[in-house]
Amino acid sequence: MNIPESHIITIFGASGDLTKRKLLPALFSLFKQDLLPKEFKILGVGRTDFSDELFRKNFITWLDGEEKDVEPFLNKLFYQKIDTGKVDDYELVKSKLNELREGTGIPENYIYYLSTPPGLYELVAKGLEKANITADVEGESWKRIIIEKPFGIDLASAKKLNKNLLNYFSEDQIYRIDHYLGKETVQNVLVTRFGNGIFEPLWNRNYIHHVEVTSSEELGVGTRGGYYDNSGALRDMVQNHLLQLVGLVAMEPPIHAESKAIRNEVLKVFQSLRPIKEEEVPKYVIRGQYTGSTVKGECLTGYRYEQGVPNDSRTESYLAMKFFIDNWRWKDVPFYIRTGKRLPTRVTEIVIHFKKSPHHIFSHDDLTINAHNQLVIRVQPDEGLLFKFSMKVPGAGFNTKTANMDFHYSDLNDDHIPEAYERLLLDCMQGDSTLYIRGDAVEEAWAFVQPIINAWKNNPEIPVYGYPAGSWGPAHADTLIEEPEITWRYPCKNLSNDGEYCEL
Ligand code: BG6
Repeated sequence: MNIPESHIITIFGASGDLTKRKLLPALFSLFKQDLLPKEFKILGVGRTDFSDELFRKNFITWLDGEEKDVEPFLNKLFYQKIDTGKVDDYELVKSKLNELREGTGIPENYIYYLSTPPGLYELVAKGLEKANITADVEGESWKRIIIEKPFGIDLASAKKLNKNLLNYFSEDQIYRIDHYLGKETVQNVLVTRFGNGIFEPLWNRNYIHHVEVTSSEELGVGTRGGYYDNSGALRDMVQNHLLQLVGLVAMEPPIHAESKAIRNEVLKVFQSLRPIKEEEVPKYVIRGQYTGSTVKGECLTGYRYEQGVPNDSRTESYLAMKFFIDNWRWKDVPFYIRTGKRLPTRVTEIVIHFKKSPHHIFSHDDLTINAHNQLVIRVQPDEGLLFKFSMKVPGAGFNTKTANMDFHYSDLNDDHIPEAYERLLLDCMQGDSTLYIRGDAVEEAWAFVQPIINAWKNNPEIPVYGYPAGSWGPAHADTLIEEPEITWRYPCKNLSNDGEYCEL
């Protein structure tokens, strides 16, 4: 592993939740693994009136549990208060950066991490450019900017943001983050597909019946109701995380594992998504919203009664959809994806459902005849790979049943599975943008979901189905799958009608 060059990372929105929960812990973890350069500093920037000392103290209180030897990391932390909305205040950032470099030999290598409200992205970029701290100096120093999601709220705003950012940074300097791409198991999709000889020959319309992607969450919107209600599952999860997973599952083999090659192939997948016309949205997309219910004795609030959510909200906390990818590999293979909050459990998985055997010589019961081999890529939380296949039941005759070949990352107990942000931050420090989204791909992904946004906006009568918190979402999602013997895969326990958990 190459250690990145000396640099300073500046986090805008340094007193915010992301900094506290993800960014600083990830940097601390990289530090403890000796993956950061010796000369390295972190500058927190925000409106909150912190001093370096207070920022450090807060970091300690944000840390989970007991941490020893924090001192050397604390010495890397600094803070600068500015009014992020004032372009001229970025001179203060520049002066602080110069001060931090003094006597260290750190060149003007800067990463700017924008963990601010999205409305400030352009302004921060502009302020930095005005302060003259955005240009790379060939052979001497580099500047990179990491932009958090949401990258736009629709196609037009994403295009505008892309265009405007290019006034201040070049595309090579812009790192659009999608933390799903930082997940170990998501990257393992590439290795499963292109590091093994056995899967790729089968990875196409001749052998695959359909592909299913589920990303369910047990939690509700919590304290993020204000943000979430303007976003909904389509913008919050589908346009970015879920489509990125689809991109990796569906892409053609890249010529090598470098950024441009991989990102070109992902882009081609997005360009091949069969557009869903506005009038087709009710047929292909089901939206839902959780209603109050009692799960294991705990009373769960309905979405409309969450903090920050209007009582008549029609924002979807659940979405399931069906779509196709129009290219040689995938023509007419359905992709089913779903995501939601307040579902029975937190799980993200990709399921490749292979076609069933063409002729049944062993037994003729429905279960066997309809058994599809499945490859389940478990993204989280029990990271691993599961292959389901038929085997003979020991004893007389040729009765069959489904068995599992199951690999769990937890079995590799000597390997540290890095947090998504660790991997992504380290990649940016090394100038590797493979796991970041390119501007053209962001726009293609928005172009695909835009008709859905339009349809819901223009036809408010399109139903928002209620589903009890703790269930697997509205039953209407089943209507997306037209073949009667096929259902969504239920990765874990489900709620029975009387509110008790039952095994599926
Ligand atoms: C975020 C969404 O991008 O991803 C959240 O804004 C969601 O609403 C989260 O909860 C899910 O991420 P993870 O890593 O917990 O699956």
